Amino acid sequence: MKILVHTAGSDSAAWIDALNQALPEAGIDRWPAARAADADYALLWKPPPELVRDLAHAKAIFNLGAGVDSMPELSALPRDVLLVRLDDAGMAEQMIEYVLHAVIRRYREFDAYVDQQREGLWHQRSRLSKNEFTVGILGAGVLGAEVARAFVRLGFPVQVWSRTPKAISGVTSFAGPQELDSFLASTRVLVCLLPLTRETKDLLDQVRLARLPRGAYLVNVARGAVVVDADLLALIDSGHLEGATLDVFRDEPLPKAHPFWHHPRIVLTPHVSAVTRVEASVAQISAKIRRLEAGLPVTGIVDRRHGY
Ligand code: NAP
Ligand code: GLV
Repeated sequence: MKILVHTAGSDSAAWIDALNQALPEAGIDRWPAARAADADYALLWKPPPELVRDLAHAKAIFNLGAGVDSMPELSALPRDVLLVRLDDAGMAEQMIEYVLHAVIRRYREFDAYVDQQREGLWHQRSRLSKNEFTVGILGAGVLGAEVARAFVRLGFPVQVWSRTPKAISGVTSFAGPQELDSFLASTRVLVCLLPLTRETKDLLDQVRLARLPRGAYLVNVARGAVVVDADLLALIDSGHLEGATLDVFRDEPLPKAHPFWHHPRIVLTPHVSAVTRVEASVAQISAKIRRLEAGLPVTGIVDRRHGY
């Protein structure tokens, strides 16, 4: 069995070591040293189109992340080449930590207390009501559902919006374009955990963001291109939105001249909310390769019609 690795970074040695341990019977090589056309399986992150095009005879391509928007030329591949994304693999825990921090920082008004400290001001602010602090999560998949459960455990009202309805204990489910407006109108903190697809690109534009109540806050940990930057800035500057925590951007790294960098109501991080962990990912992928070799089904297969 031949396995090809392309990680678009400097960590391919760590992936190859971990794969050699998990699948000692396999031949594991880096692209372009090994030919893509000979691979049975490929583990890829941000591959160039010519690499993907040469995988027409592979059994499966494993994307080394949850989002497959950076996988080019998929439509050129035969349908029986499976595209499999990472299912959690250590990312849900990281995403919960990040989003809880962003929301609780806002809910407990830490930024206001930082300002007060700078002014030497001792003032106990009246507490915001948790009942009025509904957390609305766009996307209730592997990560969105876990983040929703974490907020339920803390006693926040939680609602999710997804393509298909969900039954998650303690969570109100909204589904489909027809329910998006009422979901937004009743959300105080909007957390975006949608994949980037034809349908979600530019979804959060002026019209949709304006449906949020005055004073709402955005946390985007999905993909930058789901949000229209200029519309978000305009709504924050007009006072309709209170601010945003952004981990992902239309162009990454975020260009130095982008207004997000120095905006007083925007907190940003460089795409770190949930990073791919080599060990957990190799454990998941090697178990799936063994199942595929045994003719068994695996989870995490991307539905190419929907693009996620
Ligand atoms: P997932 O399991 O595929 O879940 C996607 C969710 O989005 C599902 O609930 C799906 O609805 C919903 N959805 C998709 N298209 C929709 C549409 N047109 N309308 C309404 N809902 C729609 O993905 P995941 O593992 O949770 O990851 C979500 C995204 O997070 C990834 O695609 C990636 O872009 C991002 N991410 C970012 C980081 C980071 O470090 N910033 C790390 C990991 C992941 P259904 O349930 O009905 O199918
Ligand atoms: C990271 O952004 C991922 O999609 O896993």
